[in-house]
Amino acid sequence: MYIPSRTSSVWMYLLFVLLDCYWRAVSGQLSYSVSEELNLGTVVGNIAKDLNINVQELEPRMFQIVTGSKTKYFEVNLKTGVLYVNERIDREDLCGDEPKCSLNVEAVINNPLKLYRIEIIILDVNDNSPSFLSTSLLMNITESTLPGTKFLVLSAYDADVGKNGISTYKLSQNDHFSLSVNKGESVSAELVLQRHLDREKQPVIKLTLTAVDGGTPPNEMFVAACLKILC
Ligand SMILES: *[C@@H]1O[C@H](CO)[C@@H](O)[C@H](O)[C@H]1NC(C)=O
Repeated sequence: MYIPSRTSSVWMYLLFVLLDCYWRAVSGQLSYSVSEELNLGTVVGNIAKDLNINVQELEPRMFQIVTGSKTKYFEVNLKTGVLYVNERIDREDLCGDEPKCSLNVEAVINNPLKLYRIEIIILDVNDNSPSFLSTSLLMNITESTLPGTKFLVLSAYDADVGKNGISTYKLSQNDHFSLSVNKGESVSAELVLQRHLDREKQPVIKLTLTAVDGGTPPNEMFVAACLKILC
């Protein structure tokens, strides 16, 4: 009988949903951790060994990996029992700002039928740089502004999470301003005026503000700020 592949993928999906419901009630599962953006073919682990299945039984017992998504991120080599990366994994694409990212797959073996739930935790790598909404910042400041006054500065965005997100800001060397970095839930920075402004001496002050993430090595992005002194 000819079974169109679409029908079979629908069945695979239904099977996955059933297995998923079943496994929600059962604890204890196999778990692996892999970084995002690994080369295709990178070994995740030896799934046959970890599930205590003889490698020679994988092929005759039709061992396979079932996922709920269209993309088969992982595949198994039935000769060796090795689970490997089969598609590009982009953590930002899969989980966005979520601090924890994991993919659930199920392993199925027949005669007798056995199901295994496998959680694969996707670890963030520092593959994104900080970015500012604009590349330059224009601000007016009146000459009479008192030292100690704070000005809110644009905060940068970084698609990476945890320590790979924004970690600090830097300000270019200058005579009038310092930077106050606020490390709350998200890191932002404010310019603080350090001494009186003199429009006659210096009508415009140019600064460079740099956002730095916490990766090793860190990624940086800067924005040029132009402050016009008004009377
Ligand atoms: C700064 O002030 C000038 C007038 O002197 C005005 O044209 C300009 O729009 C102001 N810029 C900003 C960013 O407020």
